[in-house]
Amino acid sequence: MSFDLVLFGGTGDLAWRKLMPALFQAFRHGTLPEGGRIIGVARDDLSHVQYRELIASRFKTVEGAKRPSEEEFKNFASMLHYLRLDLSKPGDYARLAEMLNSRNADTVVMYVATAPALFTQTVEQIAAAGLNGPNTRIVLEKPLGHDLASNRAINEAVGKVLHENQVFRIDHYLGKPSVQNLFAMRFGNALFEPIWRREHIANIQITIAEDLGVEKRGAFYDQTGALRDMVQNHALQLVCAIGMEPPINAHADAIRDEKLKVLRSLARWTPETLGLHAVRGQYTAGTAYGERVPGYRSEPGVDPGSNTETFVALRTEIENWRWAGVPIYIRTGKRLASRDARIEVNFRPTPHAIFRTQAGMANKLVINLQPKDGLELHLLAQAQDQRVSTKSGVRGGMLPLTSVQLDLDFDKRFGSERVGAYERLLLDVIDGRLNLFVRSDEQEEAWRWVEPIISHWEHDNNGPRPYAAGTWGPSASSAMIARDGFWWGEEA
Ligand code: BG6
Repeated sequence: MSFDLVLFGGTGDLAWRKLMPALFQAFRHGTLPEGGRIIGVARDDLSHVQYRELIASRFKTVEGAKRPSEEEFKNFASMLHYLRLDLSKPGDYARLAEMLNSRNADTVVMYVATAPALFTQTVEQIAAAGLNGPNTRIVLEKPLGHDLASNRAINEAVGKVLHENQVFRIDHYLGKPSVQNLFAMRFGNALFEPIWRREHIANIQITIAEDLGVEKRGAFYDQTGALRDMVQNHALQLVCAIGMEPPINAHADAIRDEKLKVLRSLARWTPETLGLHAVRGQYTAGTAYGERVPGYRSEPGVDPGSNTETFVALRTEIENWRWAGVPIYIRTGKRLASRDARIEVNFRPTPHAIFRTQAGMANKLVINLQPKDGLELHLLAQAQDQRVSTKSGVRGGMLPLTSVQLDLDFDKRFGSERVGAYERLLLDVIDGRLNLFVRSDEQEEAWRWVEPIISHWEHDNNGPRPYAAGTWGPSASSAMIARDGFWWGEEA
């Protein structure tokens, strides 16, 4: 199968950080179909050779085994091509059409990794140049819009020129091996399904913590904030993966239909819940990697009076028969104490206590997403080394229970050289598999759910709560969950 992959934003940050390394890994793993072309497209005036040199310089910064040997890069680079294109100039798209038509590949992938404001215009120009035929697939990066209206406008413009099954809206969390294994755990094993419900589960906690700050993306981030950057997409996709009903099969629409139902069942916001269940924070100066780091407002590109949130904690519920009454807590933020993404499923304690256990101690399943990738099942057991002393006051001779865990490390089990998120998703696009991509109605529903929070915060003069870089966010986040009698899982 021949393919042409056109990378709009071919010299940009995403191509540099994620897409080129992912394409190289696929090439190295022998999974990238042979004879394909990767065509970088940008405004810079570069020749093919200069583009290859630019990408070569990117790989020189890679350490360890992921760095290509000279020979490997030479072979990979033979797939790289470049076209100078100004996104606003129709004539430039005609030149792209010429380049693509000269070869007539089986599949043409248009990866739009440009500023979001340019999506609509780019897609319209692609169509005007006649490049929206049935063998075209378009990949749209997040953020797709700024709110529901702008998201709809993009989806409508795209829908006018391409069929929904040609549109690949990327959420790279869905491509992570750990998220794949969450689906495998739930729908490939019968063990958990009977207890995966309100009768057995007390609460679910989703944490996506980053220790990094906003890096070089201050100007972008200041217009975006954690709610739009992480919650509207990644965190809500995790809520769907954890809460959805088993799909009738593994086809894209079967999965997406079930995810959509979860999004539609999320508790609607009221003035009261907005006040109690939506916490925002912003980091101040603190410590990261043992060094002093500046506060958010001093980051380059950030407005010194900015009220943009770098931390969000939310409480919601999925209002259906399976989940009614089970709180789902979400928290995400920059410059937190560590890089740690995980989902904790806290089970209810035994209905009747015959052992001594610490208050609230119960079974827990931890789905580690990153940097660890694996599952931990926390059980209660009697420690072997304890002795019953007559003075210990142990009731009926029973020892207290301690928490122990079964630990499954997927990296150890399957090797850490597993297929990364972007590698997996790029191959899925080339092969036309939509399972791990977001449908327009899902995306709109997610925007509909976050929008009341956005407008509540816009009108709330209190601004985000400060937290020192290197901590777990403002104390209001713990207070929010403590009101339900729970606490965030261990803050490793
Ligand atoms: C991106 C956000 O979508 O996800 C970034 O725009 C964030 O702000 C990144 O850092 C996190 O991805 P990962 O894979 O490093 O958890």
